[in-house]
Amino acid sequence: MCPPLFYGIEYEINPWMSTERQADHKLAGEQWDGLRAALQSAGASIELMTPVKGLPDLVFTANAAMVYRDRAIVARFKHPQRQGETPLDRAWLEHDGLSVDDPPADLSFEGAGDALFCGDTLYAGYRMRSDAGGHQQIGEMLGVRVLPLELADPYYYHLDTCFCPLSQSEAVYFPGAFDEYGQKVLEANVPTLIPVAADEARSFACNAVVVGKTVVTNAGCPQLHKQLKERGYTPIATPLGEFVKAGGSAKCLTLRLDGEEAAAWKQTAD
Ligand code: ARG
Repeated sequence: MCPPLFYGIEYEINPWMSTERQADHKLAGEQWDGLRAALQSAGASIELMTPVKGLPDLVFTANAAMVYRDRAIVARFKHPQRQGETPLDRAWLEHDGLSVDDPPADLSFEGAGDALFCGDTLYAGYRMRSDAGGHQQIGEMLGVRVLPLELADPYYYHLDTCFCPLSQSEAVYFPGAFDEYGQKVLEANVPTLIPVAADEARSFACNAVVVGKTVVTNAGCPQLHKQLKERGYTPIATPLGEFVKAGGSAKCLTLRLDGEEAAAWKQTAD
């Protein structure tokens, strides 16, 4: 995670962002602290990145890279406003001991924001931020199966805003963010899909962090939380409204370094 010292709405690169609707700096700090505390209470240990002035979206560490075992594919951001983050992400990941590769040449790739394992498959969102061809090549580089999913609604511009694997066979999703083909791909490949309603999707219900059986989301997702409880999960709500102003929430503010719970490779790792 990266503390929100220099976080703010300094440009507009997704429909949630308006420079006229600034984040409250103090409240953002409190909300970020609340998320960190919730994750720690679920058993996560948190490593920090140093915030940098002029890179307000550096807080959204999900986009830094995609981690696979001891490797990381660092991001190549679509928008110039975020491209300054990549050298810092690369240095941090290398210092952490990961072997860091670039995405395939000239293709944009926004890390775990658009590439999520569920079982042994990498689900990969494209069109808004990451390129479809890049995902396929990343799959070849890593030797994993990739299922590309076209993102159809600009409000759900990263896959992690509308899809959240919970385990190797279960995921939360917002159907309205996908085209018909994408919905069919998900239905055919994820044994249990938990749909969220449009109003909860807008509260970033799908942008959840899973730590063991604990699922941490923004406040305002009571229906999803009820469903999670019925399935044996422990949902935690923590308000993240100041980050929603930038188009992000719980999951966007984190990058899992040791493998998501839903990734088959995590279970088999030493
Ligand atoms: N303002 C950031 C952007 O538009 C938000 C990133 C949210 N991250 C995520 N993984 N969905 O790039």
